[in-house]
Amino acid sequence: MEVLAVINQKGGVGKTTTVLNLGPALAAKKQRVLLIDLDPQANLSSCYKTVDNRASLDTSGWLMDPGRASDAIQNVGDNLDLIKASRRLMHDLDDRLRNLSVGGDTRLRKALASLRNQYDWVLLDCPPNLGKITVNALAASSIYLVPMRPEFFSVHAFSALDALAHGVKEELNQYLHFLGILFTQYNRASRTRSHREVVEELSGKYPTFNVTIRQSNPLAVSPSLQQDIFKVSPESAGAYDYQKLADEVLTKIEQA
Ligand SMILES: Nc1ncnc2c1ncn2[C@@H]1O[C@H](COP(=O)(O)OP(=O)(O)OP(=O)(O)O)[C@@H](O)[C@H]1O
Ligand SMILES: [Mg+2]
Repeated sequence: MEVLAVINQKGGVGKTTTVLNLGPALAAKKQRVLLIDLDPQANLSSCYKTVDNRASLDTSGWLMDPGRASDAIQNVGDNLDLIKASRRLMHDLDDRLRNLSVGGDTRLRKALASLRNQYDWVLLDCPPNLGKITVNALAASSIYLVPMRPEFFSVHAFSALDALAHGVKEELNQYLHFLGILFTQYNRASRTRSHREVVEELSGKYPTFNVTIRQSNPLAVSPSLQQDIFKVSPESAGAYDYQKLADEVLTKIEQA
């Protein structure tokens, strides 16, 4: 089971959009996929209609009572399950994890251990900060990727994230592997000098994905339709790019 954290403490860079669309792209390749909404904003969860009223626990309830995974998991598509976040219940999860006397950094890893044979992929949608929830995601993951808008301020933010990931790797999870930076919301028309410089500066230092996620209106519209890009607009640039991302993720895993 690969556990993939999609992280960046900067907001609005495409974390949720990536989990929402990479999930079904992997599921279409016969991979058994579980999406987990770790963000108290619950944006990923709001992209899905409530389909299974038996799912009485949200992510925070499951983390506090990991034996009850079957009360948290909902089926949302072929080969595709989801654990939803509830805005009401998640708002203080970071504090609750911090206040646990033991194991506050590895709660998610422990909870995932019992699902090991059920899934090929777990995709974690993280909140836009480097708090305890994000530390839990990194401690539980085999791999992580960082969606990023190619802008000057992204470089500065990335160094803090990189330092945290190194700390987690050293202290909590020696198997954590960085898949790469995924440039998102790429707009050819506004490709400025600084944009190119950011891509060049980071590509020289860190692994990056060959595929770039272009700005694509259907990607912005699909959450409000509560559907992924492959259902809303299968011929769009966004569908093509996320399909390519699934291919590249699988290739990178084989090479890792
Ligand atoms: N490639 C794209 N083309 C057009 N719109 C996009 C694209 N990627 C994301 N968006 C839109 O940009 C906004 C931010 O994306 P998203 O919610 O995925 O970012 P995020 O990193 O999860 O944000 P947060 O940090 O708040 O959780 C959303 O309205 C989304 O629909
Ligand atoms: Mg998000």
